[in-house]
Amino acid sequence: MAEQISMTPELQEYVTDSSLREDDILRELRHETAGLPGGTALQVPAQEGQFLALLIRLVGAASVLEIGTFTGYSTLCMARALPAGGRLVTCDITDRWPSIGAPYWKRAEVADRIDLRVGDAVETMEGLLADGGPGTFDVVFVDADKANYPRYYELAMELVRPGGLIVVDNTLFFGRVVDPACTDADTEGVRALNARLREDERVELSMLPVADGITLVRRKDV
Ligand SMILES: C[S@@+](CC[C@H](N)C(=O)[O-])C[C@H]1O[C@@H](n2cnc3c(N)ncnc32)[C@H](O)[C@@H]1O
Repeated sequence: MAEQISMTPELQEYVTDSSLREDDILRELRHETAGLPGGTALQVPAQEGQFLALLIRLVGAASVLEIGTFTGYSTLCMARALPAGGRLVTCDITDRWPSIGAPYWKRAEVADRIDLRVGDAVETMEGLLADGGPGTFDVVFVDADKANYPRYYELAMELVRPGGLIVVDNTLFFGRVVDPACTDADTEGVRALNARLREDERVELSMLPVADGITLVRRKDV
């Protein structure tokens, strides 16, 4: 049996036709984002957004932290999956992109669950730790600048509760992780985190060769 079948455009279309349930609000946000420079590459694919929502439900998460909002497609997917009273803290270095997504959050009637923090993600995460203490999030989704991935991971490990889930996006980084010619800070950041995860006995993990690579990391229950 094949270890991993190759994805073709036809198969990708089949997967989409067979399972994607993107509604008008999400589709319009995706289309508006596609008009921005680099928009399509930065935003999670629609299938991944749906997968994130499913993960939130599977974990039964009521408290989610997102590192890297951009125009808030993944934010919207996850916020909708929260139970009443749930909260999602999302952060970005700039308000420029989240301000595009905010009207869509409102249209979807989940704006009241979303707490946007504008500023450097390390500072935001340290602030959350200082204010709320460790272990206050059920799920942390890491999707900001890749050079800082190892730092985000260590802070996420402090912020996520035992038994909680850290989802790391772009762990294949457009294939650059296996290209020796790629030695830029972002690629090295992803490589360093991937190597760290393999050895980190505090967690269980699964690296999914889906989209641009999604690694699921469960913090062990002490
Ligand atoms: C890949 S995009 C996030 C995509 C988003 N999750 C989505 O699916 O639409 C990465 C985001 O991280 C933000 N970012 C980059 N450096 C950052 C930093 N040091 N702190 C916080 N956010 C940062 C960028 O502004 C960008 O919007």
